[in-house]
Amino acid sequence: TPVAILLSGRGSNATALIKACAQPDFPARICLVLSNKPDAPGLDMARAAGLETVAIDHRLFKKDRAAHEHAVDAALRKAGAEVVCLAGYMRLLTPFLTTQWAGKMLNIHPSLLPIFPGLHTHERALEAGVRIHGCTVHLVTEDMDEGPILGQAAVPVLPGDTADMLAARVLRQEHRLYPDVLRRYLHTRYPNRMDLSRTDSPTA
Ligand code: GRF
Repeated sequence: TPVAILLSGRGSNATALIKACAQPDFPARICLVLSNKPDAPGLDMARAAGLETVAIDHRLFKKDRAAHEHAVDAALRKAGAEVVCLAGYMRLLTPFLTTQWAGKMLNIHPSLLPIFPGLHTHERALEAGVRIHGCTVHLVTEDMDEGPILGQAAVPVLPGDTADMLAARVLRQEHRLYPDVLRRYLHTRYPNRMDLSRTDSPTA
């Protein structure tokens, strides 16, 4: 299944997805890595991995969010994407994109949703004094960080934790969770394709 990744920064989750897709039994291939930031390290990483990449700089669209999203959507379709994984894509989406990709767009968020949607989740977890924190992969809907939950991973909050220490502990789980959830999602959504990929097909 052709999967596109949208990112804005570092791209460590994208790296985890790319690695997973490189496994012969993984039911997805990355058809495009797209960033709204031309200088995102994640884009360089994807390029180095030999993947198709594109930057669609939102700043060039001035304040026209709709025009930027139409360009993003066009690039996803041109690449033949069937599923989109947001991996640190730091743009709020309008109903246009969320409707176009309803049920086919996944996001990873660094908290155990529905608690701590939005930014600075690790600082907020420490402030709140929770003892369990983690990450969530969910389907993207119009409402930020509120779509149906597909999977979660929990980590303990330890005495003396700083936000950075906690973020690193969560991030390790993100890298495990996202490929796992994507695999399960694809298996559920396209069961026959999984079967096909498992069948020894005669080579021409
Ligand atoms: C991750 O913490 C992810 O959960 C959040 O943004 C961060 C992206 O990190 N949505 P990376 O670019 O994947 O390293």
